[in-house]
Amino acid sequence: MKNHLLLCLLILFLLSETGIAGNKASYILNGTKMVDSRGNVINAHGGGFLKQGKYYYWIGENRRNGVFVSCYRSSDLINWEFRGDLLTKNSHPQLDKANIERPKIIYNSTTRQFVMWMHYEYGGDYSFARAAVAVSPDLEKPFRFIKSFRPLGNMSRDCTLYKDTDGTAYFFSSARENYDMIQYELTDDYLDIRTQIATLWPGGHREAPALFKRGNYYFIITSGCTGWAPNQAKYAFSTKITGPWSDLKDIGDKTTYKSQPTFVLPLDGNKTFSYIYVGDRWDGENYYNSTYVFLPLVFVNDSTPVLKWAPAISPNPKSGKIKLKNIIDK
Ligand code: GAL
Repeated sequence: MKNHLLLCLLILFLLSETGIAGNKASYILNGTKMVDSRGNVINAHGGGFLKQGKYYYWIGENRRNGVFVSCYRSSDLINWEFRGDLLTKNSHPQLDKANIERPKIIYNSTTRQFVMWMHYEYGGDYSFARAAVAVSPDLEKPFRFIKSFRPLGNMSRDCTLYKDTDGTAYFFSSARENYDMIQYELTDDYLDIRTQIATLWPGGHREAPALFKRGNYYFIITSGCTGWAPNQAKYAFSTKITGPWSDLKDIGDKTTYKSQPTFVLPLDGNKTFSYIYVGDRWDGENYYNSTYVFLPLVFVNDSTPVLKWAPAISPNPKSGKIKLKNIIDK
């Protein structure tokens, strides 16, 4: 009897150490392939997150079997359920030979449409350098592809969307062969560019933008341009979304813990407000072996974020707290 009890305790301990207790994971193990509730690998690279009711949605690149963008949801940010493919090569004639990267979605409460912006390429190389837009009234259902284009004639590759607290939306993308990062304001329906706000750090060669706001400060985290190979991420801050932005400062280690930014996820809990940096750990040899890192962004003062390494994290969306497992400060 005593032996049985010991065995049960040992099994429970082992399950909790692997993060799988009662069929549910209790933490995100960074740099490993994450699986959804069906046991399938989560395909959502270069992705973005959106909170709708009690669910967090994770939308990102799929790249398998003609699927470009897939959608997952979770109430705990750890256990993800596949909800559907939002864009495939059959969604529009312009997508038959397309390559779609870094899809991001925001909700337009006036038109009641979810609007997706993404990096669009066609035919196997990166020479199209366009943005593209798609919409859907339902975040879990296929999106209607509207168009691909060069914003105000500018090349557009790595990109992100940001919806400000007043509802104004902005698109940031790498232009001029990735030398410049351009910030645009979108039209009220979010389907087009209204105006070019600024060229950030002209000639600075920045990619992989991720925007967020904390208190009175806006932050933008970007990577350098080394293709799939990771490099030192940098951040800038501003008290206005329209700038001026501070100089770029290093964040994380020399390889951003072997990752490239894709999103910063705010956790607005009842105990605290915290931020999770989400990055892609690309495998440049085999894209399909790429993984993710979810890391806590902490603040030493209002304008100084610090990116910590943790092998695993346990976010609690209710409280807003993030537990770190075996944290190693690098
Ligand atoms: C990265 C970019 C990725 C992908 C890759 C291709 O710099 O962030 O989204 O385009 O280059 O080499």
